[in-house]
Amino acid sequence: MANSRIEVLIVDDVAETRHNIRKLLEFEEDISIVGEAGDGNEALRLAQELQPDCILMDINMPGLDGISATKRIYQVAPNCLPIVISVQGEQEYLRKAMLAGARDYLVKPFSGSELVNTIRQVYSLEQARRSLQQDSQTNRSAQVIVVFSAKGGVGKTTIATNLAVSLRKQQQEVILIDLDLQFGDVPLLLDLNVKRSMADWHHDGREAIEDFLLKHESGLKVFASPQTPEQGELITGEHISQMITELQPLADFLVIDTPQFFHETTLQSLELAHKILLVATPDLPNLKNVKCCLDVLTKLNMADKVHIVANKVGSNGIKVEQFSSHLQQPVWQKVPYDLRLTTQAAIQGIPVVDLNPKSSLSRRLVQISQDLLRAEPLSQETRSKIPLARMLFARR
Ligand SMILES: Nc1ncnc2c1ncn2[C@@H]1O[C@H](COP(=O)(O)OP(=O)(O)OP(=O)(O)O)[C@@H](O)[C@H]1O
Ligand SMILES: [Mg+2]
Repeated sequence: MANSRIEVLIVDDVAETRHNIRKLLEFEEDISIVGEAGDGNEALRLAQELQPDCILMDINMPGLDGISATKRIYQVAPNCLPIVISVQGEQEYLRKAMLAGARDYLVKPFSGSELVNTIRQVYSLEQARRSLQQDSQTNRSAQVIVVFSAKGGVGKTTIATNLAVSLRKQQQEVILIDLDLQFGDVPLLLDLNVKRSMADWHHDGREAIEDFLLKHESGLKVFASPQTPEQGELITGEHISQMITELQPLADFLVIDTPQFFHETTLQSLELAHKILLVATPDLPNLKNVKCCLDVLTKLNMADKVHIVANKVGSNGIKVEQFSSHLQQPVWQKVPYDLRLTTQAAIQGIPVVDLNPKSSLSRRLVQISQDLLRAEPLSQETRSKIPLARMLFARR
């Protein structure tokens, strides 16, 4: 397709028809005929050998017919655009041709200008589509939001999952990564069947990373953690770095759920994060953990990107303001306590924001996702502190 002329392969079992088509096209400066075939099998062989831009495919031919050959053309010449040409003008034939992957359909007999215009239109539409796709792939670089905490059971997974679904509902491409490598439960909360997980991902480019993502009905994509703790042990910080780098061009947001401890893998995600949502339940026993966690993140030069999210607010008598002043840090968001709703959501595998969108818990979660969407992304400058992170938490 890089060639300035559109290379065309003509397929028809009648030699005279091939000859007539050749004559219709021979004076067009932007089109060149690269070959002719008399049946579907020969067409596939030549398409593989010549890799034409476009193939004009008759339907009724001896041996392999044109519809079956069109279905298989993408396997041998993935960039070739099939245009079906046939004496059959009935709806049923047209439908079959389109289902097989034809880009257009011309009913014989057709004029020279009809043929030339069709070839040019199909070709230029495809070029526009490819350049759009290229643009979106090269320009896109997802914001990385890591949901972390100094303590287990504070609501990291609940928050990560619902934020990811809410962002998706606002027309964002979102990938939710479950970095709780030993006991990940994101698929459970979204009622997803784990067909493939991180443990199956080969990270050697043999298969695109996209093929390992699970698809939720909302359109959200999920990279599931390994199915067993032993498999989880095999994932390293380097894998995390590679995974994030490969997934960033594919989405607007990467939302990462984490376990509650500083592990080499969690650290790598924190280092690559644009924002760290530090989830804390505002109770005094938790205060020490949160404070300690903040100190570590400050040492690692990550304090700027930390946003404290107080979850389960209202579950005890402690005021968030009190908690915040003990921490000497403002609380960015307060998420209300609603045990009945989160329990029902977990049992049914339906995100809270879908199960009861009007509840104050859902409204708050949606509000956070909107704030994330509106905010200017922070830079990932803190990568410079990687050696310190490694020194503190390297695997023994
Ligand atoms: N705002 C909330 N109100 C009431 N219950 C909540 C709220 N958020 C989470 N929960 C409940 O708290 C429990 C722990 O939540 P979740 O699994 O999301 O926490 P976690 O921090 O991911 O835990 P872990 O450290 O085990 O991964 C769950 O039973 C969940 O339903
Ligand atoms: Mg969790």
